[in-house]
Amino acid sequence: MAFTRDDALALDAQDGLAHYKSQFLVTDPSMCYLDGNSLGRIPKATIERINAFMVDEWGAKVVDGWADWIDEAARTGDLIGKSALGAASGQTLACDTTSVNFYQLCSAALKARPGRKKIITDLANFPTDRYILQGLARDHGCELIMIDNESSEIAEHERITPDVLAQYLDDNVALVSLQVIQYRSGARSDIKALTDLVRAHGALMVWDASHAIGAIELDFDKNGVDLAVGCTYKYGNSGPGAPAWLYVRSERQREFSVPIQGWFAQRDQFEMGPYFERSEDMRGFQIASPSIIGLRAINCGFEMIGQAGIAAIETKARMGTSMMIELFDQWLVALGFEMNTPRNPIERGGHISLRHEEAKRISAALRTYQKVIPDYRAPNQIRVAISPLATSYVEVFDGFERIRKSVAGKEYLKINPGAGRVT
Ligand SMILES: Cc1ncc(COP(=O)(O)O)c(C=O)c1O
Repeated sequence: MAFTRDDALALDAQDGLAHYKSQFLVTDPSMCYLDGNSLGRIPKATIERINAFMVDEWGAKVVDGWADWIDEAARTGDLIGKSALGAASGQTLACDTTSVNFYQLCSAALKARPGRKKIITDLANFPTDRYILQGLARDHGCELIMIDNESSEIAEHERITPDVLAQYLDDNVALVSLQVIQYRSGARSDIKALTDLVRAHGALMVWDASHAIGAIELDFDKNGVDLAVGCTYKYGNSGPGAPAWLYVRSERQREFSVPIQGWFAQRDQFEMGPYFERSEDMRGFQIASPSIIGLRAINCGFEMIGQAGIAAIETKARMGTSMMIELFDQWLVALGFEMNTPRNPIERGGHISLRHEEAKRISAALRTYQKVIPDYRAPNQIRVAISPLATSYVEVFDGFERIRKSVAGKEYLKINPGAGRVT
């Protein structure tokens, strides 16, 4: 039996998270925004909170504000940890970018494994991670092994399983780094099994959870994760360029030291002493002054996640992606699409990825003619997401109906290929 718009409306009617959608600013209700996995919508509370910060704190207190702001990276980190990472306090910092945090933690991991000369990642990993690992391998005299998970003979939907990874591990491996959810295919890794496997070989694992945080339960403490990074602006709805986060398991914080020894990591920071003496807690991983405006935006986004509950959020992500897969089978297969995301719901997060030879022009045509916002990822895929707090089921349904209409009518032929730097 076909899945209908009434079925989507029925899912919304039973959805315990449905009321959150009205807490986001939506300037065009006819738009189907299916790109919350790239940049989340703005919570209305963020607008008020940032304005109040500017007037009442930066404006009124000026430099005296630092008395309150000085530890805000740690407080906000704790909120991220509690609401979305399954992390007890004192292990997460909100700071810098994912790229900087990734460099910091991967460098620290390499330094903690002297004598080992191999780093492992995957070819489908996010570019910034691959590029940073290439630089680290060069600077540390290591070999970088990239598992070719773009080849279906090695991995299905780019998914690295323990069986796949085991073939590359030996006692010369210092560091393994993978994404919790693949940025393109949406495949989800088994973080506990992979972390255990890497640890059993004496190596360290750094996770990039950018596409997972705010969409699925991560349970870092329970899963034995040691080191992880991620962003806040996707399902965390914290805004473009909002600070990222890093997680270091409390028992292991003394083992690691990051390469950029900034003044916020100094034990007696305001003694302004001549030599660096690292703070032994989580502050030892902080470089410098955080963006307080950015942190306030994170607070709005992650308070909402904490209130809604990450378990309920994951359930909606699963139901929403299942609905998308049903609509893909119903409409999109016949139009030349192939799905590059696992069908097993525990092997994916909040987005699915659809291959089509005209993917790039289809993505542009949907924006131009249909008010549907997916995104295009090279070489041939569009990604579509449900961001559980900000998206309704019917918004996804309407988006898919417009995708069908647009591709069936070959609207993409009207698009000039190659336009635009951002996809
Ligand atoms: C998986 C992953 N890692 C890292 C990044 C880079 O984030 P940033 O620009 O904050 O360094 C992104 C950005 O989308 C990402 O998706």
